[in-house]
Amino acid sequence: MFIVFEGIDGAGKSTQARLLYEWFRENGYEVVLTKEPTDTAFGRLIRRLVLMGGKEGIIDGAKISPDSEALLFAADRAEHVHRLIEPSLREGKTVISDRYFYSSLAYQWARGLDLQWLIDLNRFAPRADLVVLLDLPVEESVKRLRGRKVKSEFDRIVELQRKVRNNYIKLMERFPEIRIVNALQDERRVHEEVVSLVERVMKAGSSGDGVST
Ligand SMILES: Nc1ncnc2c1ncn2[C@@H]1O[C@H](COP(=O)(O)OP(=O)(O)OP(=O)(O)O)[C@@H](O)[C@H]1O
Ligand SMILES: [Mg+2]
Repeated sequence: MFIVFEGIDGAGKSTQARLLYEWFRENGYEVVLTKEPTDTAFGRLIRRLVLMGGKEGIIDGAKISPDSEALLFAADRAEHVHRLIEPSLREGKTVISDRYFYSSLAYQWARGLDLQWLIDLNRFAPRADLVVLLDLPVEESVKRLRGRKVKSEFDRIVELQRKVRNNYIKLMERFPEIRIVNALQDERRVHEEVVSLVERVMKAGSSGDGVST
C-alpha cells in the first residue's frame, strides 16, 4: 500500500506520517517512511535553490523560474520512485511519503504553471492508493510555524498558501484517492481519522474493489 500525506506548510504532515508509520510497525507490517524533497543530492539542490529563498535561491540575479522548479522537483521524484518507492512496493512493503507529486501540482500550479503540463510531467510517478489531505486555514498553519519563516516574506507566503490550499481541494475531483481530513483537530484525533481511512482503503483493496470514491 502506498500512502501520501499532503497539505500546506505546517498542516501536520510530518507529525501524522510518523504516527502512521508507528501504527503500521506496531501492527506487524513492513513499512518505509520517506519524504519529498528527498535526502539525495537532488533534494539538497532543491532545498538550496528553491526552498531557502534569499541569495541562494537566485540564479543570475533572478529568482529561479517556476518551470525550472517543477523540473527539479520532477527529477528528484524520478529518483525517489525508481530507487525507493517502486522497489519497496514490489517487495510488499507499505510506503508512506511526506509529500509527493500532488505537492508539485498544488504548488507549481499556484505559481502560475499549466496544470495539465504538470500532470504530464509527473506521469512516470505511480498514483498513491491513499492521499491524506490535511486541511486547515492558512492563519492556523502560520501560527504553528511561527518563527520558522522570515517576517518580510510573510504576506507573500500567506497569499501563496491560500492558493495552494484551494488547489489541493480542486485536485480532489481529478484524483479521487485524495481524502480530506480536518487538521484543526488535535494530533490524536487526526491520527484516528487517518487510521480509519487506511483501514477502509485496505478493505477495499483486499476485496478487489480498488479505491472507492
Ligand atoms: N493537530 C495539531 N494541532 C496542533 N499543532 C500541531 C498539530 N499537528 C502538528 N502540530 C504542530 O505544528 C507544527 C507543524 O507540524 P508538522 O511539522 O508536522 O507540519 P508539516 O505539515 O510537516 O510542516 P512542513 O510543511 O513545514 O513540513 C509542529 O510544531 C507540530 O508539533
Ligand atoms: Mg514536514
